[in-house]
Amino acid sequence: MTDMKPDMQRILAGEAEAGDLTYFAFVKPPPAAPAVARPRGKGRSRARKRGKAKPAQTAPVGTLPRLLAGRYRLERLLGAGGMGTVYRARDLLHEQFGDPDPYIALKVLSEEFSESPDAGLVLYSEFALTRRLRHPNIVRLHSFEVDAQCQCAFITMELMRGLTLDKLLCEHPTGLPWTALQQVAVPLLDALAYSHGRGVLHGDLKPSNVMLGEEGVRLFDFGLGQAEAGVLPGLPHLSRSRFNAWTPGYAAPELLEGGALSVAADLYAVACVIFELASGKHPFRGLPSTQARDQRLERTLQAPKHLPGHCWPALRAALAFNVEERSGGLQALREALGAQPSWISRWMSRCRR
Ligand SMILES: Nc1ncnc2c1ncn2[C@@H]1O[C@H](COP(=O)(O)OP(=O)(O)O)[C@@H](O)[C@H]1O
Ligand SMILES: [Mg+2]
Repeated sequence: MTDMKPDMQRILAGEAEAGDLTYFAFVKPPPAAPAVARPRGKGRSRARKRGKAKPAQTAPVGTLPRLLAGRYRLERLLGAGGMGTVYRARDLLHEQFGDPDPYIALKVLSEEFSESPDAGLVLYSEFALTRRLRHPNIVRLHSFEVDAQCQCAFITMELMRGLTLDKLLCEHPTGLPWTALQQVAVPLLDALAYSHGRGVLHGDLKPSNVMLGEEGVRLFDFGLGQAEAGVLPGLPHLSRSRFNAWTPGYAAPELLEGGALSVAADLYAVACVIFELASGKHPFRGLPSTQARDQRLERTLQAPKHLPGHCWPALRAALAFNVEERSGGLQALREALGAQPSWISRWMSRCRR
């Protein structure tokens, strides 16, 4: 945080005062729920009605044991998304050996998904994809484990202390100033380009899957990610259709129409996120891209207020509904956002004289 520019420091300082840095992306736990209760999904009632035995990978319905694998003590809910639930936990083993910061984040599948027989595999796929990635702007995973007693699979990872970009946007409804925007967007694009370079597609880029914290930007949640052909060949290909997977407001039209995940689809999603950061608004009013395309909303697109003019052509191209018009655009977008607007460059060279 020390090398951050003043804009970003102000933004983070404001947040730190708020005390509770957690943000629930979609699901709020019931107020009286015990600390380790899982947000209740539709699957719970269905399972009860059916009265079926739980599949092997399933944790006890409704709650998790407080202590997982005899080692991780669940402390509180950090957030829940479309598929998983993430808790803050203490690693008692590390604590016992004197680790001054034994806190980790622990992700389990939400109840609805944990009932499926291949639930462990879904979570393992996320683990295997993310573990391939070692980048300062991508969340670091520690381990994939299964609690022997409750047969519940989980991931342990670094505890990110900060706020997700959707929370950041709530605090900055008209978007971020240019220097702050640059400090978020450039590392995010670097993380994505690196991930693509390692053959890993993210598949779910959106503000609630990016954290801005004490150590900068972190991209996370590769739960809908996929490996490109030839990468991680042993990893079974999971059918995403039954999860109703893609997030409509950020998924490119070709994905919503049954096409394959691609670099270009990730580019569309990250371009939506960057547009939102620059203006405070989703480029197409949050509509699914297919609907926005049918309504020809690209005609109404205007450069966001906080975006220097030289960035607009690359961002606009990345938001194209037609996949061919997008290809190759990640590098162009990164270069545009990494460059200073000409008035800043002129001013800086005058200062150097
Ligand atoms: N490592 C972490 N540290 C702190 N909070 C986290 C961490 N991972 C996830 N979260 C929080 O939990 C929420 C849900 O996690 P996520 O992995 O996105 O689940 P899902 O796959 O269901 O979308 C995130 O939006 C974030 O608020
Ligand atoms: Mg998520």
